Amino acid sequence: MTSPIILSIDTSCDDTSAAVTQGLTVLSNIVASQVELHKQYGGVFPTVAKQAHQQNIEPTVNLALKRAHLTWEKIDAIAVTIGPGLAPALEIGINYAKNLARKFDKPIIAVNHLEGHLLSVLAQPNSLSTEARRAKEDRSSVLSLIVSGGHTQFVKVNQIGDYQILGQTIDDAAGEVLDKVGRMLNLGYPAGGIIEKFARLGDEQAFKFPLPMTTTHDFNLSFSGLKTFARNLLEKLTGQKPLTKTQIYDFCASFQTAVFKHIFYKLNKILQNDNFGEIWLGGGVSANIKLRFMIRKSTGLKLRIPHTKKLCADNAAMIGVAAYFKFLKNEFSALENLDRQPNWPLGDTQSNLFHTTSPGLI
Ligand code: KG4
Ligand code: ZN
Repeated sequence: MTSPIILSIDTSCDDTSAAVTQGLTVLSNIVASQVELHKQYGGVFPTVAKQAHQQNIEPTVNLALKRAHLTWEKIDAIAVTIGPGLAPALEIGINYAKNLARKFDKPIIAVNHLEGHLLSVLAQPNSLSTEARRAKEDRSSVLSLIVSGGHTQFVKVNQIGDYQILGQTIDDAAGEVLDKVGRMLNLGYPAGGIIEKFARLGDEQAFKFPLPMTTTHDFNLSFSGLKTFARNLLEKLTGQKPLTKTQIYDFCASFQTAVFKHIFYKLNKILQNDNFGEIWLGGGVSANIKLRFMIRKSTGLKLRIPHTKKLCADNAAMIGVAAYFKFLKNEFSALENLDRQPNWPLGDTQSNLFHTTSPGLI
């Protein structure tokens, strides 16, 4: 049997994305970025995001179909992110997906954005050989680390669709704190990638940052203390005179290492407590080479990462991958029940959202 072909939409934050996937294979993955629009605010401005999604959604979906060389008859289902995310942004994708489902008489699948990030490591390029595909399907007990601008979570994957959050940030997300400190340094938005670049040119030992939450016994994280420490240190340094280029590079290297050391400290704690065979890394910050290197080097476990940078950041192909597993379990949603869930946590199946039926019955 051939795998189902799914058209997916993600408008959870500031990127309008549509993709076509067949099983785990990505046939197209279009992202219309709004970064230029939000730069002036130093973060995502919800009403601006909503307006841009409204403008971008139709051309993005059309382009996704075109790049996949497919027409609507070939699409077996439509998937859409219903949360977590910005309510006004989610609304645009959900309404558009509902209209498409009605117009073309397709079943609809509701996807959790975080499950998309978690499963993004399973997305495969169209060009992969059958053997390579099979090798990728073998997996042992999995610990997932989702690190993005909105979330930082350790998740135990009991099986696909069955997740247990072992720990998560109690304040800012890792990407968020990199963006905020980047703003203090006037690096532009989003700053994670720029900090990574500058960090390569600096000395990570130049400034000493504290290691947070070493006395707590849980696996939660907290980045706000590091942010305050960074602000105070910067005030002290710039109180004397503007930072030199070398100081900026050193600051980026030291701060980035501090953020990753904190994640790494808690990761190690989890690994001492439970047995895992592999680690899956997802979310915008997973594009960071230093983070990947630190995890690979010191855990000795197999590390799976999304196969392109595009799959690390927000994109709809990862939503298509998550939807594929729901399709196999007949987890379709009734259109009238489908609504945005801005705070939908991973691991909460919200069974009332789903109305299990066969695709032809909706
Ligand atoms: O997953 P994502 O695109 O959106 C959310 O769901 O939040 O993540 C965006 C975050 C931003 O905070 C951005 O600064 C960060 O990912 N980021 C990075 C890198 N590229 C993007 N952080 C560290 N290193 C990078 N190379
Ligand atoms: Zn995301």
